[in-house]
Amino acid sequence: MKILGIETSCDDTAAAVIEAKGGLKKPCFSVLSNVSYSQVAIHKKFGGIVPNLASRAHLQKITPTVKAALLISEIRRISEIDLIAVTRGPGLAPSLLVGINFARALAYRFRKPIIGVNHIEGHIFSNWLLGEKVNFPALILVVSGGHTELVLMSAKGGSASGGKDSMGYQIVGQTLDDAAGECFDKSARILGLGFPGGPAIAAEAKKFKIENLKLKISLPRPMVNSNNYNFSFSGLKTAVLYSYKGKNKSAMAYEIQEAIIDVLIAKTLKAVKNFQPKTVMIAGGVAANKKLREYLVKKIAPYEIPLLIPNLAYTTDNAAMIAAAGYFNYLKKKPRENSWKNIKTDANLKL
Ligand code: KG4
Ligand code: ZN
Repeated sequence: MKILGIETSCDDTAAAVIEAKGGLKKPCFSVLSNVSYSQVAIHKKFGGIVPNLASRAHLQKITPTVKAALLISEIRRISEIDLIAVTRGPGLAPSLLVGINFARALAYRFRKPIIGVNHIEGHIFSNWLLGEKVNFPALILVVSGGHTELVLMSAKGGSASGGKDSMGYQIVGQTLDDAAGECFDKSARILGLGFPGGPAIAAEAKKFKIENLKLKISLPRPMVNSNNYNFSFSGLKTAVLYSYKGKNKSAMAYEIQEAIIDVLIAKTLKAVKNFQPKTVMIAGGVAANKKLREYLVKKIAPYEIPLLIPNLAYTTDNAAMIAAAGYFNYLKKKPRENSWKNIKTDANLKL
């Protein structure tokens, strides 16, 4: 099956074509194209994403982005596509609408089945693009700009389109306030490091030499010892705000990164001990963080549980992951549900 994926939930206009086979039991994917237009240059001067500007940029870029994805995958006509998978939520409503309406128009015009995909489920499925076997239950640390969750997944492709018919995902812990990515972004703003904050903090942190004890800063690890799997990052951001004055920028960036990662890993290990998953995975934009990837490998190793870490190209928002999640959902749903008439956006869609 050739699947066209479309993703416009936030500030990346993305389209991809993947080839999927093997069914629910032995899924196998190859990515034929994965194109993304980043709006960072547009939002940078505002220090965050401006929804209406995002929507306008999606409108301008959606056609060339989809065309490029088809061209790279050597697909000449839409008739060669078997399924259209599009993000329907969660995300920014004006951004989601552009992708959904574009996908619906294509599905209507070319009489193609269409499936709405939960963006977070898409992130989780970026792990399936590795081609590794996934054993269940799987524990997934979802860390993006808007979400920080520990998810226990009991069956492949659990949710159909999210919402009421969702199944197979249990959120065992989540942030009570800011997401990890949000903490990176807001702290970066305090340090004057620009947007997006995650890569900026990581780059600044690299300049700090750990032997330089005089400059070392100590920040709190919120909720690290709490008796649950929840997170809280807004206090960390406030601590950065109040303690930054007069401190060394690289030392601060280093400690912010360490503090966020320490908490993420501590809670993941706590969940590993309690739920004894057969696979551990990480998903979302913050999964691009090199230190987080390295530390996770080290810390999970003693448990001898396979750890999956998506390729960098599929950690931040992309459409290949949406197409992969779409494949599972398509196989699970009744064919009549896969019509352009039934697809709606839901900015607050739950897993
Ligand atoms: O998943 P994503 O691309 O978009 C959402 O669904 O939110 O995640 C974006 C988030 C941003 O907060 C960004 O700062 C963070 O991922 N991020 C990183 C890195 N690259 C992106 N955080 C830490 N280290 C990185 N290398
Ligand atoms: Zn995302």
